[in-house]
Amino acid sequence: MNQAALETIAQDLVGGGRGILAIDESTPTCGKRLADVGVDNTDDNRRDYRALLLGAAGLSESVSGAILYDETIRTADAGGTPFPQVMTDNGMIPGIKVDTGAKDLAGHPGEKVTEGLDGLRDRLAEYYEMGARFAKWRAVITIGEGIPSDGCYEGNAHALARYAALCQEAGIVPIVEPEVLYDGEHDIDRCYEVTCETLVRLFAHLRSQRVHLPGLILKASMVLDAKDCPQTSDVATVAEYTLRCLKNTVPATVSGIAFLSGGQSDVLATEHLNEINRQADDHTPWPITFSYARALQGPALKHWAGKPENVAEAQRLLVHRAAMNSAAARGEYRA
Ligand code: 13P
Repeated sequence: MNQAALETIAQDLVGGGRGILAIDESTPTCGKRLADVGVDNTDDNRRDYRALLLGAAGLSESVSGAILYDETIRTADAGGTPFPQVMTDNGMIPGIKVDTGAKDLAGHPGEKVTEGLDGLRDRLAEYYEMGARFAKWRAVITIGEGIPSDGCYEGNAHALARYAALCQEAGIVPIVEPEVLYDGEHDIDRCYEVTCETLVRLFAHLRSQRVHLPGLILKASMVLDAKDCPQTSDVATVAEYTLRCLKNTVPATVSGIAFLSGGQSDVLATEHLNEINRQADDHTPWPITFSYARALQGPALKHWAGKPENVAEAQRLLVHRAAMNSAAARGEYRA
C-alpha cells in the first residue's frame, strides 16, 4: 500500500473547502429522479444528464471529485469522451460506488446489510485502470422499535472495514458511509446514540482490518430528529449534537468527514454544514465538508427537465449550489 499517495488523494478530496458530488445513483434510482421531472429512464437521458453535471464549467472550484455508478464510468458523453476523462479535463477526481446494495439482513426483520465484497479486488483493479482514485460503500442503519440490533451494527461495520482495506490495497481511497436513516419518529437524542454507536463499532473494525485512517474519508449522516418526529431541532442544536458525536467517536487521524444530505432540503443541508463548521474550533481535527447527491443536484435536475435548451442554466444552478456548500465547508455561508 502506498500510504502517502492515498493521503494525498484524500486531502485533495476534502481539503481547501471543496467537497464531493455524489452522482452514483443506480439505474433504477436514477430513473426515479428522472421520473420526478418527467424524463424517461433511457440510456441517452441518463448519459445527457450526467454529462450536464460533470461538464459544468467552474464546478471544480467547489467540487473536488464525483462518485460515479458502474454504468457511468463506462460511458462517454455525446461527443465520445469517456466520463472519467470529462471529469479530469474539468479538474475533478473520478470516484466509483462499489457496493452492490443494501439487502435484507437474514434473521433481522427491518434491517439491511450491504453486499459487494465478492470479487471486489478484481473490480477495484479494473476501476483503477479506468481512472477511479476513490470509492464509496454505503451501509444503512435503520432506527426503530428494538433496532438497530447488534447483528446489524456488526455486519455492516465488518463489511465496510473489509471494503476499505481492499480499496487501499488497490491504491483507491475508501469513503466509508454508514448512513443512519432519518426515517421514523425518533428524536435527535436517539439519533445521537445510534450514530455514536455506529461510528464506535465502525472504527473498531477499521482498526482490526488495519485500515490506514489518514487515507480514508468518513461519509457521515448528521445527527437530526427523524422526518416524522414531532420536534425539529434548530440548526445550532443539530450542529452541536453532530459535532459532539463526531468528536467523541472519530479518530483525529481520519483525513476528513463529508456529509450526505439524506433527504434534507438543499438549503437546510447547506445551513447545517455551515453551522457545524462555524462551531468547529482548533480542537476539531478534520476538514468537514459535503458529499451530497440530492441537495446538490436537486435545483439543476428540476430546471433541466430533459430539455437541451435548459442545460446552461441547470449547470449554473449546480455550480451555485456547490459554491454555497463550499462556503459552508469554511463556515462562511450567507443566505
Ligand atoms: P444524498 O445526499 O442524496 O443523501 O446522497 C448521498 C449519497 O451518496 C447516499 O449514498
